[in-house]
Amino acid sequence: MSTATHGPAWFQRDQVFEFLQPEASSQLDLSHNTILYLEGLNVSFDGFKAINDLTLYIEPGELRCIIGPNGAGKTTMMDIITGKTQPDSGQAWFGQRLNLLKMSEAEIAEAGIGRKFQKPTVFEQLSVFENLELAMAGNKNVWPTFIARLSGEQLDRIDEVVEMIGLKSEVKRMAGVLSHGQKQWLEIGMLLMQNPQLLLVDEPVAGMTHQEMDRTGELLTSLAGERSVVVVEHDMDFVRSIARTVTVLHQGSVLAEGTMDQIQNDPRVVEVYLGE
Ligand SMILES: Nc1ncnc2c1ncn2[C@@H]1O[C@H](COP(=O)(O)OP(=O)(O)OP(=O)(O)O)[C@@H](O)[C@H]1O
Ligand SMILES: [Mg+2]
Repeated sequence: MSTATHGPAWFQRDQVFEFLQPEASSQLDLSHNTILYLEGLNVSFDGFKAINDLTLYIEPGELRCIIGPNGAGKTTMMDIITGKTQPDSGQAWFGQRLNLLKMSEAEIAEAGIGRKFQKPTVFEQLSVFENLELAMAGNKNVWPTFIARLSGEQLDRIDEVVEMIGLKSEVKRMAGVLSHGQKQWLEIGMLLMQNPQLLLVDEPVAGMTHQEMDRTGELLTSLAGERSVVVVEHDMDFVRSIARTVTVLHQGSVLAEGTMDQIQNDPRVVEVYLGE
């Protein structure tokens, strides 16, 4: 890096790196064994309470499934965590020290929270490799102007991620020709390039074949441990296949929390959700 700082392009590139890798990520304080604190959150949309006194904690390395009927507030909860929606009241902290409600969406992403939306947003005209390369810097708008030769370390990281998402043999193919499931994995890979400590995944298996679902389950399970993974999903077979702790949301609050067995045998859960 030191010999590369001559010339204006490199100078700007270093500035971009600084901007993309702020202090925040090193400040993640997990000393109380909690990576995410949501406490007493409330959100109303035109008088309708989408989130109602929601309190939820996620541990480092945990794989948590969130289920609940349509409109329960699952996506809105993710919108709060990622800074897209500001709650009317309550608290949201990333580790002990990062107050998510005081951070912008970009700051939250840079601090280590990655979010996978339902629809894959890969660059169809670029190869799997190039998609991962672009994702490495984090900012899809800035990076192409500063693209440069990758270091060995960066190449290793792409290799590692491509292996994790099971696309090693597809690495040179255009993302546009991948199957729906493969595109979803690529997008998860793109998030992984930024090494998030908390990964939020909204309905990952919608539209997938059974085989793709199984593979996705394995992937998400393997990602937990080193980072926390929060999965919102309606497909109960899928949830059952990966579930450790399950949280049931209903009308914007936590209705029940526990193992899949506990949840399935909880009469309140059966009434509002599983019994449908
Ligand atoms: N921006 C918004 N403006 C108005 N209402 C909204 C907005 N976002 C969400 N809502 C409403 O808040 C409620 C919770 O929606 P949310 O999308 O969080 O539910 P969900 O649990 O993700 O449901 P689904 O399982 O269908 O994805 C719904 O009634 C929805 O219509
Ligand atoms: Mg939703």
